[in-house]
Amino acid sequence: MAFDKNLFNQMIEALTLDDAAVEQVAQNFQQDLQTGLEDVEKSSLSMLKSYVALPTGKETGEYLALDFGGTNVRVLRIRLNGGGAFDVLKKVAKPLRVEGVYDYIGAGSKAEQMFDFIAELVDEAVEGDHQTKFLLGHTFSFPSTQTNLGNARLLCWTKEFATAGVEGEVVNDLLLEALHRLGIHNVEPVAVINDTVAVLLAAAYKQPDTYIGSIYATGQNTCYLEQFGGHPMVLNMESGGFNRLTPNAYDEALDKSSEKPGLQRLEKMTSGRYMGELFGLMLADLLGEKGRKYGFTSIDMSNIYLDESEDLHDVAAIIADKTGRALDAADCALVRRLVGAIIRRSARLIAATFAGTVRQLDTEMPVTKQHIAVDGSVYEKMPLAKDELERALHTLLAGRAEPVDTILENGGSGLGAAIAACMSKA
Ligand code: BGC
Repeated sequence: MAFDKNLFNQMIEALTLDDAAVEQVAQNFQQDLQTGLEDVEKSSLSMLKSYVALPTGKETGEYLALDFGGTNVRVLRIRLNGGGAFDVLKKVAKPLRVEGVYDYIGAGSKAEQMFDFIAELVDEAVEGDHQTKFLLGHTFSFPSTQTNLGNARLLCWTKEFATAGVEGEVVNDLLLEALHRLGIHNVEPVAVINDTVAVLLAAAYKQPDTYIGSIYATGQNTCYLEQFGGHPMVLNMESGGFNRLTPNAYDEALDKSSEKPGLQRLEKMTSGRYMGELFGLMLADLLGEKGRKYGFTSIDMSNIYLDESEDLHDVAAIIADKTGRALDAADCALVRRLVGAIIRRSARLIAATFAGTVRQLDTEMPVTKQHIAVDGSVYEKMPLAKDELERALHTLLAGRAEPVDTILENGGSGLGAAIAACMSKA
């Protein structure tokens, strides 16, 4: 079959954001940020306090770091050596869901089982040592309200997590109870931070000039250092919830069928968890199967975009595998263009949120050169994403006297948690 060209062109148009549109998003974002600082109820940004500022780089000692934010949970034992240096002494990791074997995150799963599973991982990381005292930093990558560094209450799950009994609860209490059930009394959870905060702390530990931390992965979110009249504190904006956007019909369909309709609108237009699904919805329309879901992932999208062969055989194979349909090379080329348009839109939207945040910082601090620390599979691995992001950011900040770039802070979730555990002693 040959795709309907009109329909295809409409799709590309519905995904295209010209420079003026991106500039508008940047302005809306900065406005929402400022509104949120005044009155969070009036903003789509949650502006959650983290009760931590930036490290000095001199932090030292051995800590446990729990990284809980996606399907894979990790526990690390990390030694901070100061001067931005550290060693990972032990690392254990396990998925929270193994298809057909167990599932701690889907509907039907429960808090107690989930935290018991995590406590067992902690036990592995301390290698059964139930004597030595360990301080644990917890990177918990979901929107949470805090009253201090150690206490975070989950507002609501995102990224399609659905475990019962965690929303509204203090997560480190659930963790501590599970540790006690397992007979572990020497591990003290002392800090909970969002993964964006972890990335910022980790990057700032190694080098100055970094005030913004972001995740561009399964989920999407950004934090920054707010000044609060001389009392700096990192704010987790929960920017994935930003909603002053122009979703198209496919974005609307995706949102409606998600776990949390109406929420996380920016995340649903940009993050790895949703990009494959969005692509699938659009492709279904092109294939005359509107509404069908094929289960495409962002990895499929990467592989489609990476196929530069003449006959686009990888593209054809991926589409055949997921949809059972055979496409000729011409349609495969359109599929590849569609994938490119989805990634490009995603990256340009994220760039707009970065620009809005940098402009906000510029109203509060001297304008200096700065780095935006980013972690995440989309930023790191998805073709086009980083280049498009940087290009759009450059255009948006063209008038700024000092340059801004993005840097990869890979593994910040673990390191940041250890740094936060250390900073909890201050
Ligand atoms: C969560 C954020 C998190 C982001 C990246 C979002 O779904 O709400 O708290 O920082 O994912 O993991």
